[in-house]
Amino acid sequence: MTSKIVNINLSSCSYDIFINDSYFDFSALQDLLCNRKIAIISNDIVAPLYLDDLKSTLSDYKDSIFSHILADGEHNKNLQGWNSILDFLAENNFNRSDLLISLGGGVICDMTGFAAASWMRGIDFMQVPTSLLAQVDASVGGKTGINHKMGKNLIGAFHQPQAVIINTSTLKTLPLREYKSGLGETVKYGLINKPQFTTWLTNNATVINNQETSVLTQLIAKCCQYKAEIVQQDEKESGIRALLNLGHTFAHAIETYTQYTTYTHGEAVAIGMVMAAELSDLINISDSHNLRKELEKHLQDFHLKIMLPKAIDANKLVELMRLDKKVINNRHRLILMKSIGNAFIQKDVCEKDILQSIKNCQQ
Ligand code: NAD
Ligand code: GLY
Repeated sequence: MTSKIVNINLSSCSYDIFINDSYFDFSALQDLLCNRKIAIISNDIVAPLYLDDLKSTLSDYKDSIFSHILADGEHNKNLQGWNSILDFLAENNFNRSDLLISLGGGVICDMTGFAAASWMRGIDFMQVPTSLLAQVDASVGGKTGINHKMGKNLIGAFHQPQAVIINTSTLKTLPLREYKSGLGETVKYGLINKPQFTTWLTNNATVINNQETSVLTQLIAKCCQYKAEIVQQDEKESGIRALLNLGHTFAHAIETYTQYTTYTHGEAVAIGMVMAAELSDLINISDSHNLRKELEKHLQDFHLKIMLPKAIDANKLVELMRLDKKVINNRHRLILMKSIGNAFIQKDVCEKDILQSIKNCQQ
């Protein structure tokens, strides 16, 4: 058994991320669990697999546990899904002293967090992420939210969890496509400011692709640590936290355009990061002028898609990008890269160049 704890220290609150390879480790959290109602929020894919396990871990509190199961899928991360959680809390008289626990991938983490942020102006919650993407990113850092029909994650709030409990053995049931999707977000950390992590990923690509237990705890702990370092400096994204959005402006437009039917979030992020590298080459910001090729090689280590089909209308993607949360006064701010491990925020990026970089990544 291997386990690790990563701490997030924020001025508003601090909490731990417990990473364990065989069970849901709530052992240090007893004080936060007692004398309150607990609602576990999950979906119809993950609940049949892990709800009983989680409930038996929490058996000391069995008389206080409720569960609410949502329909699976990014297309259900919307006002209706969020509202159904609120209805459930109202019907069961949840109040400010009670607790929510997410059990699922990033969709469930984001929706549970947003329900916790909004119910009675904010109640406590814990994240139990079960997808790789949620374990390396979505469960950590307090961004919560849902999609609006005009764009992804347009509705939401910053609301930090009380704890994140990661049991990497849940990844055994995760479909391979979703595992690879999680690697899309994993790669991001190296590109932002950890070139040594990019080297580590390349050196360990085989064991990572084989999902060897010994490497998973390390991989997830490194990502949580890197994310914590950034969130600790800028909890509410007034500055450097935007770097965590590398590739995401493109990705969110791709996901909205394809109505969440064609690409997983991590797949769209991988393509979006290639577009960001292409744009960095195109406007002569990258040191090597060959950054896109370097990144493509890295992403191919993990069998991630790197191109978008030509049938997707690049002009429509640019239109969708105008609703990105980083846009200020109608001007695009994008995360670009000088090199692998050196990302930065570029203001006033011209739409003509954005359009060209998308087209150059279509085949
Ligand atoms: P997801 O939640 O849709 O999970 C992917 C699929 O895997 C789903 O069908 C899910 O039910 C299933 N699944 C999850 N765990 C499983 C398991 N152990 N076994 C079998 N099936 C399992 O998608 P995701 O990739 O986990 O997360 C993507 C979401 O996370 C997006 O909505 C994205 O916007 C959000 N996100 C949020 C943040 C943040 O900081 N809040 C960061 C990154 C991504
Ligand atoms: N996933 C982006 C962030 O947490 O800021």
